[in-house]
Amino acid sequence: MCVGSNCSVNGNTRLSSKLKKYLKESGLSQQVKIKFQPCSDCCDDGPVVVFENQHYYQQSFDDLKLLINQKIQDN
Ligand code: FES
Repeated sequence: MCVGSNCSVNGNTRLSSKLKKYLKESGLSQQVKIKFQPCSDCCDDGPVVVFENQHYYQQSFDDLKLLINQKIQDN
């Protein structure tokens, strides 16, 4: 998850807090780790989240939950 200033201000700070809480409450915090990365120079498309080496832009909390749960079911 990008923690550059643009992405942080545009949603990633709030998103990371909600995601941490969700992972803990759903028992997924051992399976899914949130890592933070610096700006990757695609701020105009952000906020940026990288999930399994793929960039996602302007994802909502529900989008990320769906993405995580789909990946867990696939594995
Ligand atoms: S601040 Fe996130 S891509 Fe630049």
